[in-house]
Amino acid sequence: MHVLITGAAGFLGQRLTGALLERGQVDGKALTRLTLVDQIEPVAPPHDTIRLDCRAMDITRPGALDSLLGERPEVIYHLAAVVSAAAEAELDLGMTVNFEATRALLEGCRAAGLAETRLIMASSVAVYGGELPDTLDDMTALTPQSSYGTQKAMCELLINDYSRRGLIDGCVLRLPTIVVRPGRPNAAASSFASSILREPLGGETALCPVPTDLELFVMSPGRVVDALLHAATLPSDALVPYRSIMLPGLTVSVAAMLEVLRDIGGEEALARVQHAPEPRIEAIVASWPARFETRRAERLGFVADRDFHEIVRTFVAERQAAR
Ligand SMILES: NC(=O)c1ccc[n+]([C@@H]2O[C@H](COP(=O)([O-])OP(=O)(O)OC[C@H]3O[C@@H](n4cnc5c(N)ncnc54)[C@H](O)[C@@H]3O)[C@@H](O)[C@H]2O)c1
Repeated sequence: MHVLITGAAGFLGQRLTGALLERGQVDGKALTRLTLVDQIEPVAPPHDTIRLDCRAMDITRPGALDSLLGERPEVIYHLAAVVSAAAEAELDLGMTVNFEATRALLEGCRAAGLAETRLIMASSVAVYGGELPDTLDDMTALTPQSSYGTQKAMCELLINDYSRRGLIDGCVLRLPTIVVRPGRPNAAASSFASSILREPLGGETALCPVPTDLELFVMSPGRVVDALLHAATLPSDALVPYRSIMLPGLTVSVAAMLEVLRDIGGEEALARVQHAPEPRIEAIVASWPARFETRRAERLGFVADRDFHEIVRTFVAERQAAR
């Protein structure tokens, strides 16, 4: 089995690479080759039985992926993207990376005859927005209120259509906001959702730019990687007629997240969170819905985190293990 990952040097790409190398198989078939692509050269430890190919490549360059697609990967994880606040700040950059490069990837798959290849793309709750019902499901109309959400929604439609035409075997996972993300803050509008836990638990202060009654739909990094791996195993007919799946997350308010911070890190950790409203961030994040009915995803075998305490405890345990 040959797997190709775009955006492999990113947060999810690195975790997915680690999980694939650890499991050594996809859908019961031995993983023999892993091709990692990112504009920043991806790094992975050598492996005895899996051929690793790490490429520094700008996927927006015309034909960038064509020779790799000619090598007929059986599963493609398309994770390369410009994240939400960056795509909002720079329309051209977001359109080029998030939309045009995805379209070029689909065309490359079509030209290479990759009808059987499972193409898995990471989409987002940002495809929804504006006036919405209290609870959404996979079939709620996509009415994004950000350029990032619009670019993801356009890619979803294209992947559905290329799959319907039998040009690719697509699967789109709409990811909840991923919490707790290790490392440093990034340009995602939701970056604060990790910062307000990660920094205080590490002894640093963090800024909370949104009101505490704001709700988010969240999933832990571990569960997202499990979902990406699971998506490679789904039979094509389970994905018909619509290939976009909202993953099961947890609905949690910022206030509830801070309660968990206090439970796990104590009053001193909670005191490290400073409230500093940022209307630009609030406008983006508040447009994302936080309540979903995800029975379809659950029927297909995707699993939510048990509770928010578990998400934070797992983060703390992973951070200690990494040290
Ligand atoms: N993290 C989240 O909360 C979240 C939520 C919903 C959806 N997603 C989606 O999941 C995917 C992965 O997210 P992440 O958190 O790992 O993001 P990330 O920013 O850590 O990784 C994205 C990677 O894409 C690469 N990239 C950007 N432009 C490129 C280009 N022109 N050519 C090659 N590589 C390029 C970047 O270098 C980066 O390594 C993205 O598609 C993102 O939109 C993430």
